[in-house]
Amino acid sequence: MSVKTFSCRVFFNLLNHAAVASNKPIHARHAAAARGYYTSGKPSDTGAGRAARVQVVDLRSDTVTKPGAAMRQAMAEAEVGDDVMGEDPTVNELQKIAANMFGMEAALFVPTGTMSNLIAVMVHCRERGDEMIVGDLSHLHIYEQGGSAQLAGVHATTVNTLPDGTFDLEQLESKIRHGYPDPHYPRSRLICVENTHNIQGGRVLPLLFLQQVRDVADKYGLSVHMDGARVMNAAVAQGVPPSTILQHTHTVSVCLSKGLGAPVGTMLAGPKDFISRALRCRKALGGGMRQAGVIAAAGKLSLLEMVGRLEEDHHNVKTFAQALLECDPPLFAVDMAAVETNILRFRIQEPTLSPSEFCARMAQVAEGEETALGQGIQVLMYPHFGNSVRAVWHLGISPEDTQLAIQKMQFVASQFLKEKVRAQ
Ligand SMILES: Cc1ncc(COP(=O)(O)O)c(C=O)c1O
Repeated sequence: MSVKTFSCRVFFNLLNHAAVASNKPIHARHAAAARGYYTSGKPSDTGAGRAARVQVVDLRSDTVTKPGAAMRQAMAEAEVGDDVMGEDPTVNELQKIAANMFGMEAALFVPTGTMSNLIAVMVHCRERGDEMIVGDLSHLHIYEQGGSAQLAGVHATTVNTLPDGTFDLEQLESKIRHGYPDPHYPRSRLICVENTHNIQGGRVLPLLFLQQVRDVADKYGLSVHMDGARVMNAAVAQGVPPSTILQHTHTVSVCLSKGLGAPVGTMLAGPKDFISRALRCRKALGGGMRQAGVIAAAGKLSLLEMVGRLEEDHHNVKTFAQALLECDPPLFAVDMAAVETNILRFRIQEPTLSPSEFCARMAQVAEGEETALGQGIQVLMYPHFGNSVRAVWHLGISPEDTQLAIQKMQFVASQFLKEKVRAQ
């Protein structure tokens, strides 16, 4: 099948799925179960004195997914060649598929999102001491070890990340330097946005905001890079093809190994000359891979087959969020309007129950749990920024797993209340 046919199919599926899945979530869930995406109900040994077998619901991150049978088969059968010589047909095909989908001239397969963002920064900011503007809660700023400073010699200035993942445009404009070539100042080169926004709980950046950021960038001759690790979640949530979102950015980095289920890999996309330079940077950073078609084959399936099902994750998150709100005793605070994609952030309203204690209780099988719930259930999630808890849905979590997580959450809440009453 030609690349064009592939990408048209994806484009159609994306639009179609966004339209259909929200009306028929049950069908979508059955389809997902039939395709064997879910790997739920893994037995786990919880140790002596505990339940011998428990159900594990792993909501720590969408990076924990494992490739299913179809993906492993595609990997085993992939045609490969030396990609550093540009001769891996599967990698070449994946790059064309990605460029087409994202509405970009070219794309490059890179090992990770972190390397992809770093390469983007290196190509956009070529002179040592060039400056980029990033959100203070962006992944690039918080979780990438300052690689842009450490390895690329790029200076960062921050804007405040607002709760919806955007930033104030006036503040953005105020951060642009006008002193160059006065030797006192760095030169502003790049604005980075993150979509969906990880720390802010999977928030989708509004298209209008992206257009306004681009207007500011164009006014001052800057580039816009999107850390779109989860931009496909944004596209599904907004019911638009990714190219509609990405028309406002010069370059994008899209992870294949999060909700899209590939074991490894990220696509960096942009203009042809940007990608030619990116190719050089990737090699310098040690990211030139040889017979990478083995993993690119998984990436192809991610882009072609896995986008539509993201809607199921979004649906499951909302189900769990609603259950938090309805929990008796009322322990949790959730802003349902902020629950947009596969990442959920919520708060605990009870001051004596910290996010880390709640997570610990969710992860352990308590005395009496098997009798109360009919089995042990371990739900893994993380305490998060701003005294909140973060839980992430992905293709390893079925609607049934979501119900297990709800059961466990209610059990933990009622146990906590009982203990509190007893202690009074
Ligand atoms: C928003 C965002 N950007 C970039 C990355 C980095 O991706 P990787 O883990 O592949 O380096 C992540 C990883 O979780 C992320 O959430």
